[in-house]
Amino acid sequence: MIEAGLTPSLVVPDQVPIPSSTPIKLGLLASGSGSNVEVIAKAIQAGQLNAQIQVVIYNNPTAKVAERAERLGLAKVLLNHREFASREALDQAIVKTLATHQADWVIMAGWMRIVTQELIDAFPRRILNIHPSLLPSFPGANAVEQALQSGVKITGCTVHYVELAVDSGPIIIQAAVPVLPDDTPATLHQRIQVQEHRIFPLAIALAAQRLS
Ligand code: GRF
Repeated sequence: MIEAGLTPSLVVPDQVPIPSSTPIKLGLLASGSGSNVEVIAKAIQAGQLNAQIQVVIYNNPTAKVAERAERLGLAKVLLNHREFASREALDQAIVKTLATHQADWVIMAGWMRIVTQELIDAFPRRILNIHPSLLPSFPGANAVEQALQSGVKITGCTVHYVELAVDSGPIIIQAAVPVLPDDTPATLHQRIQVQEHRIFPLAIALAAQRLS
């Protein structure tokens, strides 16, 4: 019987790695509420992640992440995907904006656009994404709904390096979350997000350490 309070498991030890000596410079991409942006900012403030947020790029004028970035004092840039002729054109603008703000890493914190080779080539092995399932199960949109509909008893979240295929690329950290009998997409997503907020700063620190 799965209890609501079951401690989720991580595939790496639940500890903060020794911070790298030089702060890594992050460009965050977000489309939604920005809770992951906030936890990354807080992990930096708390000294758990040796990094600086150079800019938050968002693609939807009404995304809540804009208010959150404002409140946190983060530089933010709107690149509305509807104003670009192609995915490649949007990614070229993203690369330019990241260069202007001197970002070395790209952190997709709820970025709901499909990336192209333009972005991938500009930041080799320096693009991370968070996804609300235990990949390779349930890639793509509606991962939480897919998990509920499939009847799995355990789902979770994944931080991985980004490759061209959607939600593919080497996995850095995963956390497991039990699916409870009365779960709705909202309640399950809420518990998954608690784990996302634990693993995302840790995964960024681990990825940075590997390249330092
Ligand atoms: C997260 O659940 C993430 O896994 C998915 O989009 C959501 C973004 O949440 N890709 P937030 O905007 O950071 O609150």
